[in-house]
Amino acid sequence: METIRLARVMRETAIKEKRNGKSIGFVPTMGALHEGHLSLLRTARAENDIVVASIFVNPTQFSPGEDFDRYPRSVGDDLEKLEGLADLVFLPEKETMYPPDFSTRVEIEGMSGAMCGPFRPGHFQGVATVVLKLFNIVQPSRAYFGQKDYQQAAIIKRMARDLDLPLEVIVCPTVRESGGLALSSRNAYLKPEERKAAAALYRALQAGAKALKEGQREAGLIGGIMRKALSEEPLVSQVQYISAYDAETLKELVIIEKNNVVLAGAVVVGTTRLIDNLLVNDLK
Ligand code: PAF
Repeated sequence: METIRLARVMRETAIKEKRNGKSIGFVPTMGALHEGHLSLLRTARAENDIVVASIFVNPTQFSPGEDFDRYPRSVGDDLEKLEGLADLVFLPEKETMYPPDFSTRVEIEGMSGAMCGPFRPGHFQGVATVVLKLFNIVQPSRAYFGQKDYQQAAIIKRMARDLDLPLEVIVCPTVRESGGLALSSRNAYLKPEERKAAAALYRALQAGAKALKEGQREAGLIGGIMRKALSEEPLVSQVQYISAYDAETLKELVIIEKNNVVLAGAVVVGTTRLIDNLLVNDLK
């Protein structure tokens, strides 16, 4: 496994591999790797000749007051975990990604304002901007994202479609702990009792999905069921949103008529913000 720090070297290496007919599978990360990331890498490995992972804690996707400074950083451990799963690791410095006069931003209108949008101003603009840069540097044939960050994955898919990016965006299933909690680097912030309580979000989404599958089509009532389930867990200190959305456009639904719905929510447990979602596309 080779580590590359310079964008120019990463791009030249990628272009050479592609000229030789090799496909490149890419897993962008902010490090603090867990089984969710590793499952993306295994899928990339199975579907491509070369696997590239990137580790970059992207400052532009953290809103003011968020956890950029204390975001878990563990590059040494991460590189060990990547051994055997990635062929190349792109590990840029901040100055490589954002020279002092950097002034371009990518905005995916509408979709960025849904769900997490109001709670994380500028977040999806930061994500789209860095992901487009990474795509240009790594030149992937396929890029892999986890369903846990559903809005992020939907926005990147839309960006790839709108800007005719020559790659496939692949969304892989959420990996969960045995209690249902979706794996996330931020779970490291949870105290043991909070970790247990955090599974309430998954249980709430499951309760919503059950009602939906049993024929409930009023999104407001499904939202009520999910909020009630969350209210039973005292360590959930805030429910930022939990509702039903069109799985493609991310518009909040009122009456569920289409068979492509994502139930998604964001809650705060202790001081940790958690998100999760369930895709429901097998409605009768
Ligand atoms: O999901 C993440 O870890 C980040 O948002 C990403 C896609 C690596 C962009 O910084």
